[in-house]
Amino acid sequence: AKKAVLGPLVGAVDQGTSSTRFLVFNSKTAELLSHHQVEIKQEFPREGWVEQDPKEILHSVYECIEKTCEKLGQLNIDISNIKAIGVSNQRETTVVWDKLTGEPLYNAVVWLDLRTQSTVESLSKRIPGNNNFVKSKTGLPLSTYFSAVKLRWLLDNVRKVQKAVEEDRALFGTVDSWLIWSLTGGASGGVHCTDVTNASRTMLFNIHSLEWDKELCEFFEIPMKILPNVRSSSEIYGLMKAGALEGVPISGCLGDQSAALVGQMCFQDGQAKNTYGTGCFLLCNTGRKCVFSEHGLLTTVAYKLGRDKPVYYALEGSVAIAGAVIRWLRDNLGIIKTSEEIENLAKEVGTSYGCYFVPAFSGLYAPYWEPSARGIICGLTQFTNKCHIAFAALEAVCFQTREILDAMNRDCGIPLSHLQVDGGMTNNKILMQLQADILYIPVVKPSMPETTALGAAMAAGAAEGVGVWSLEPEDLSAVTMERFEPQINAEESEIRYSTWKKAVMKSMGWVT
Ligand code: G3P
Repeated sequence: AKKAVLGPLVGAVDQGTSSTRFLVFNSKTAELLSHHQVEIKQEFPREGWVEQDPKEILHSVYECIEKTCEKLGQLNIDISNIKAIGVSNQRETTVVWDKLTGEPLYNAVVWLDLRTQSTVESLSKRIPGNNNFVKSKTGLPLSTYFSAVKLRWLLDNVRKVQKAVEEDRALFGTVDSWLIWSLTGGASGGVHCTDVTNASRTMLFNIHSLEWDKELCEFFEIPMKILPNVRSSSEIYGLMKAGALEGVPISGCLGDQSAALVGQMCFQDGQAKNTYGTGCFLLCNTGRKCVFSEHGLLTTVAYKLGRDKPVYYALEGSVAIAGAVIRWLRDNLGIIKTSEEIENLAKEVGTSYGCYFVPAFSGLYAPYWEPSARGIICGLTQFTNKCHIAFAALEAVCFQTREILDAMNRDCGIPLSHLQVDGGMTNNKILMQLQADILYIPVVKPSMPETTALGAAMAAGAAEGVGVWSLEPEDLSAVTMERFEPQINAEESEIRYSTWKKAVMKSMGWVT
């Protein structure tokens, strides 16, 4: 059959906490042509620990690329039209590997992991100068969430890591670095780099000078020789060394939340998006200035789309558990068999009937930053059934978003008039309606919710030397928007929200 003729295509790896995807877009319209997705295992070796196998992550990327290329072949689309590949990834998750063998030296320590709680406590007692030392340089609070303490734990506890550092064989990276190094040749010439957005989540990166910070590395006792080179989010890092797309440049790299900001075209000061993945992350572009929050938000690098392009910053509200609560209902309680079933269960009752679910499985992130919190389900009666719990789980995602939106509005001064959303969970219509009701502003979702991958593809396509994506709105003509208007009155919305806050207070102080 005759091959379909299309403009240049761009692929994107979206390596999230729950799954890996590879997607291919038409760079002239942003139409999604084909994709493949593979779920990723999470291991919980001890209470509070979360690990993943870096090799499984890498293989899932190759598998997704191969399967997507096969699907494109079935559509008569020539894969030689794929001109570039972008990478977006779960942030903070920490990998250390051996540069001579290409073997990881330990499992990836996932961003949700809490094993470094005592490290954080002892470090916080010896912060030099004033308490602002870490935050003023990195935009981040000292927390188990970020890579520096995970890396510190690996250096303190894993003999293989210590030995490899001594012998100059160890490399550290977040998932983007691990993937780009492996995909560009690994032990035979792989490129050891990261981009400014991922670097800004390590707690070792100075977000003003855009360099690894010597004082921070000394404070966390991290040898600087194992850190990757920091590059912009849009430039050619290297070429694919194997597989169906061998020879194609990897030319975009963004932490997944930054990628979604780009994919939603939030390029102006004050534009914001909320992505519902394993966690939920609301980012507001603050332009070329670093804004420091008074209300528990992080300051982070939004993007730098080219070596000579300026850096943009964002305020971020991070919620640890969003989609993960649905996976927990599936895998731990078994009340649903697939994540999609949650919508039907919730629809059956249309209310939580006074049941509130605070999924503080990894403590609470923004705006509380409360590591002592743990999950609770409260307000139960003999009437409560699994449908009410399912509804309460969806409501929890919306209430948590309301908390970070309130913090954002307070920090920015100008309340958001609507919320742009994306991510897999936005296919759930009940969730979207609930979100509009609980925020009491309209929620606007793109027809194609894979905005994270789209952002990575845009960065890759726009890179110098690739030049197939212009980053103008007309290049997104295939993306249409759906709007959800609030349907309950403001008073009802406030009553539900204040009861949620009562439940949050009850979730705190479980771990001392
Ligand atoms: O900071 C963690 C975040 O990047 C994880 O994203 O999509 O796996 O929830 P996601």
